[in-house]
Amino acid sequence: MCGIIGYIGKKQAYPIIINGLKKLEYRGYDSYGICILNNDNVFLKKKVGRISNENGENLRDGNLGIGHSRWATTGGVCEKNAHPHEYNGFYVVHNGIVENYKELKEDLIKKGHKFNSDTDTEVIAHLISEEFKDNLEDAVRKALKKIIGSYGVAIVSPKDKDKIVIAKMSSPIIIGICKDGHIVASDPSAVIDFTKQIVTLDDGEIAVLKKDGYMILKEKKIEIIDWESDAVSKGEYEHFMLKEIMEEPNVIENATQGRLLEDNVKLGGLETSKERLEKTNKIYLVGCGTGYHAAKTGEYLMEEIAGIDAEAHMASEIRYRNVRLGPNYAAIFVSQSGETADNLACLKRMKEVGVLPLGVTNVIGSTQTRETEGGVYTRCGPEIAVASTKAFIGQLTVLTMISIFLGRQRNLSKERAKEIISELKELPRKGSLILDNHKQIQELAKKYSQFKNFWFIGRKFNYPIAMEGALKLKEISYVHAEGTPGGELKHGPLALIDENCPTIAICTKDSVYDKMISNIEEVKARNGKVIAIATEGDGKIKDIVDDVIYIPETLECLTPLLSTIPLHLFAYYFALSLNRDIDKPRNLAKSVTVE
Ligand code: G6P
Repeated sequence: MCGIIGYIGKKQAYPIIINGLKKLEYRGYDSYGICILNNDNVFLKKKVGRISNENGENLRDGNLGIGHSRWATTGGVCEKNAHPHEYNGFYVVHNGIVENYKELKEDLIKKGHKFNSDTDTEVIAHLISEEFKDNLEDAVRKALKKIIGSYGVAIVSPKDKDKIVIAKMSSPIIIGICKDGHIVASDPSAVIDFTKQIVTLDDGEIAVLKKDGYMILKEKKIEIIDWESDAVSKGEYEHFMLKEIMEEPNVIENATQGRLLEDNVKLGGLETSKERLEKTNKIYLVGCGTGYHAAKTGEYLMEEIAGIDAEAHMASEIRYRNVRLGPNYAAIFVSQSGETADNLACLKRMKEVGVLPLGVTNVIGSTQTRETEGGVYTRCGPEIAVASTKAFIGQLTVLTMISIFLGRQRNLSKERAKEIISELKELPRKGSLILDNHKQIQELAKKYSQFKNFWFIGRKFNYPIAMEGALKLKEISYVHAEGTPGGELKHGPLALIDENCPTIAICTKDSVYDKMISNIEEVKARNGKVIAIATEGDGKIKDIVDDVIYIPETLECLTPLLSTIPLHLFAYYFALSLNRDIDKPRNLAKSVTVE
């Protein structure tokens, strides 16, 4: 959470920082702040609210500056807690948490320091001031040694001009190399308008950015961003979320491109782990939020297609449990950002005990991709809306391919692999047919928009999709929604079902169809309204439920790739009819880089 940005070069820093903050707003939008240095003059602006409302006027002269968009952790949402934080001429923007800030603050107060905010970050400025002699990077290095926690920081000071000092520990930092200078940012979306060449800092590294160069302790490889600047704009759409849902069929196509063989898949990122994966007894699939729902679907896919024991876990839980770990296990971390703190902490622990760590990640060069021993990119392009949609589809696609890969190492027959692969190729077209029907879904969402409680049910492959449908609805609409297996209804949830609590039932023609029909009947018998996600051509279901959204027929194990699409659209249109802040729902952030 929180986005940091900075520029030093020949251009005006102010518009570059405003542009970067707008791109980073998804990481936090409680408040923002900018600091521009022009020789000895310092311009400092802090504001509660959203940078998207900032028109970029009042240009301040200066070729050097830093900025921050905040998602509050320590200290409430108010102007004094907005970054940059300053003490004695040292200006700091920070993403992360200083865990020992209370002890540090007490010591500093004893030494006579006065604090202006309630944040953990402010102690960094004070520590730097304590350590400063005549060189900013030396002071930063010494100050950061005293800190326990995580940080991506950028620091400027008129006391050591013409440089930005940056440092990283468990929070992402990249340097964008431009023709006319350098940009520091939390992620590539903030630099893509200016350069495609980036360098990623590793944990523990400090760098100094100057107009004409940058210096890191060791030589780093330049990576190339493989998406275009318009991928981070809304284009013709009112919201990023709608644009991203509309891209879902395309995501399946991109993720599979060049990776599907006739009866197997080619996943370059798993090549070096091939032999270990052959000997692997069990796979842990780990994620948070939507990433966890993909992991849960992956558990079913791996059991069914690969014939291997698989278990999905939420990263925030498994990292504290005593599950059996060791060299015969592999763990697949599923994450859009590749920066989720709980995932990374769990990854570290798994690595320490010899588990093979792999990633299913979207963001190239993210910490997860660097800390894992292999993995597969989802190739979704940047996802901006806080609620994850197309990344989920990318994750499901990749997990299906990994299941085929593992299956072909085991007992998956060539014929079955062929069948799944040829159907995977059909899915972009079938997904587009669902999107063509978006008007019907919009009308349904409007029709049900006065309800405040929803139940989502599915079984087997569609149980995680029921959870995903519910999460999406609550995240962006702020209505209560829960997703459970259809078979669990009678063990509690039925007590809540009445005419005011509609159920969305994923009831496709598959091995659990009859069971789902019984579950729907249990709901109808309690006067509950039911919207079914059903398979095209299923006429019978129309007579049982209140409303139906049809999706094309596909293989049972691939159904999630289609049944998710109407649920994402339903959540979007539902929130739209309530006039919610869809791309930036209250209290949430896209990239949760704190515990
Ligand atoms: C946050 C986002 C979710 C996302 C989750 C995991 O909670 O709001 O949309 O699913 O983090 O993020 P990751 O980047 O690890 O997929």
